[in-house]
Amino acid sequence: MIPTPNLDHLSPGDYEHVYEPAEDTFLLLDALEKDAEFLRNEIKPCICLEIGSGTGCVSTFLGKILGDGTALLICTDINPYASAITNKTGYHNSIQLDSITTNLVNGLLPRLYHSIDILCFNPPYVVTTSDDLYLSKSILEKAWAGGIDGREIIDKMLPLVDKLLSDKGVFYLLLINENKPNEVCEIMKNNYHLQSEVLLSRLAGREKQLILKFWRNTR
Ligand SMILES: C[S@@+](CC[C@H](N)C(=O)[O-])C[C@H]1O[C@@H](n2cnc3c(N)ncnc32)[C@H](O)[C@@H]1O
Repeated sequence: MIPTPNLDHLSPGDYEHVYEPAEDTFLLLDALEKDAEFLRNEIKPCICLEIGSGTGCVSTFLGKILGDGTALLICTDINPYASAITNKTGYHNSIQLDSITTNLVNGLLPRLYHSIDILCFNPPYVVTTSDDLYLSKSILEKAWAGGIDGREIIDKMLPLVDKLLSDKGVFYLLLINENKPNEVCEIMKNNYHLQSEVLLSRLAGREKQLILKFWRNTR
C-alpha cells in the first residue's frame, strides 16, 4: 500500500487559498493505486500531466507509484497558490513536480501534442450557475464551481484530451453523476474514438463520485 502524501508542511491558512484534499482526491488516489502495476509495467510513462493539481497530492502519489523518478511529472493549475504549493508538496515527499500556472494547458500545446502517457483531472464538478463559475470572486470557488451540469470546465477539457494523449496514453477523470458521465463517454467515443470504463465509484455523502478511465482504440 502506498501512503497518502505527507501534507504536514501545509497550515490551515494555506487551505484558505488552495483546495484541501477531500473524498474526490482520495478516490483518484485509489484509482491510480488500483492501476499501479498497469501504469508501471505497461504504460511505463515518460510524461505525466495533472490538470488542476491543487496541493499536488495526486501527482505526488503518482510519482510514488512510478517509483523510479524517470517520468516527467507536469502539473497545471489556474491558481498560482496551488502551483507553488504543488511544488512544495513534491519537494517534501521527495518527488520532483514541475508546476505551471495556466488555464487547463494554455501555452503547453502544441509542445505536448500526443506526448502525455498519464493524464489526470479532478475538475471543478459541482453543479452551479454559469455566473457562479465565471463571476466567482474567490480562487477557491474556482476549485469546485462547475457551472451548468458541473460540466463547463470539463467540456473545455474534453477536446484537449485527444490532442494530449500519446498512443498508449490513459486519462483518469473524476466525475459525479450530475455531470452525466455516460454522455461524457459518448462524446469521447464519437468525437475522438476514445474507449472508456468506470474504474472506481464511491458515495461521498449524497454525492456519487466516479473515476472514468479513457484510452485510445489502438491499444
Ligand atoms: C476539485 S480541485 C482538485 C485539486 C486536487 N487535484 C485534488 O484532487 O485535491 C480542482 C482544481 O482545479 C483547479 N482549476 C479550476 N479550473 C481550472 C482551469 N481552468 N485550469 C487549471 N486548473 C483549474 C482549481 O484551482 C483546483 O485546484
